[in-house]
Amino acid sequence: MRDFNEDNITAPVVESFQATPNPRLKQIMTSLVRHLHDFVRDVELTFEEWSFAIEYLTRTGQKCTDKRQEFILLSDTLGVSMLVDAINHRRREGATETTVLGPFYVQAAPERSNGADISGGLEGTPLLVIGSVSSADGEPLAGATVDVWHADDHGYYDVQQLDVLGGLAGRARFRTDSRGRFHFWSIMPKHYPIPDDGPVGDMLKATGRHPNRPAHVHFMIAAHEHETLITHVFASDSPWLDSDAVFGVKDSLISEFTHEPAGLAEDGRLLSVPYRRLLYDFGMKRLAAKPGLGEHPELERI
Ligand code: BEZ
Ligand code: FE
Repeated sequence: MRDFNEDNITAPVVESFQATPNPRLKQIMTSLVRHLHDFVRDVELTFEEWSFAIEYLTRTGQKCTDKRQEFILLSDTLGVSMLVDAINHRRREGATETTVLGPFYVQAAPERSNGADISGGLEGTPLLVIGSVSSADGEPLAGATVDVWHADDHGYYDVQQLDVLGGLAGRARFRTDSRGRFHFWSIMPKHYPIPDDGPVGDMLKATGRHPNRPAHVHFMIAAHEHETLITHVFASDSPWLDSDAVFGVKDSLISEFTHEPAGLAEDGRLLSVPYRRLLYDFGMKRLAAKPGLGEHPELERI
């Protein structure tokens, strides 16, 4: 193996992975090398650009902390997160479509009872959310856990302003009742920019892209014997629905957050100001029966 040039270097590099014991790792490494080499040949990468790319990825890693994952943000803004999501959620007849998790999910969200107000003192237009959770075939799912989280009236999540708020707000975990239903009060979230004070923001600025996402409420729903659903519901009157910075919008996830007058709401709460109301029915995909041990050795993890 010697005398490599731009036309013949790919084959020996691919060949160098031939003895990889894990077949999936071998497939991934050889495909990666082929695509990476084709990319470098396609753009005829200069030394300055190669060096910039190394420095850019280094800065991306250095921006990561236990609270900030700049590589996932890069994946989100390059459409890779939604591509992986699409490939892994292909057949969803009757089940709600999925979208990105985002960086603001908190595993230990406070558990609240149905009907609770989770605004935690955030100011804004009251929002009533009424949801149902059923299996894709229509069977209501009692006892499902429903994690919700959303931005405030200025477009910030609680975890971005814990010093000001002194605690979590605009997030909670509910459990569906015997009819598979849940409801809660909060405030209407605003559209917002993703964190753009790092390398991802530099990329967006250099390429003339904006960092904004349309207004939405996040949901993560877990039910026995069903795939956990990670999704959002977007407000149909929000800006940026057609140019979400992370490519996460799907038509089926856009819903009207209706304008309601002050007065008695359907759960018996008396509102002295007009409020918004979201109704959404979530469908959960049943888990496929697990193959017997040893039937799919190719699925062995890397
Ligand atoms: C979010 O919706 O919270 C989000 C998703 C992807 C990147 C940044 C934020
Ligand atoms: Fe969000």
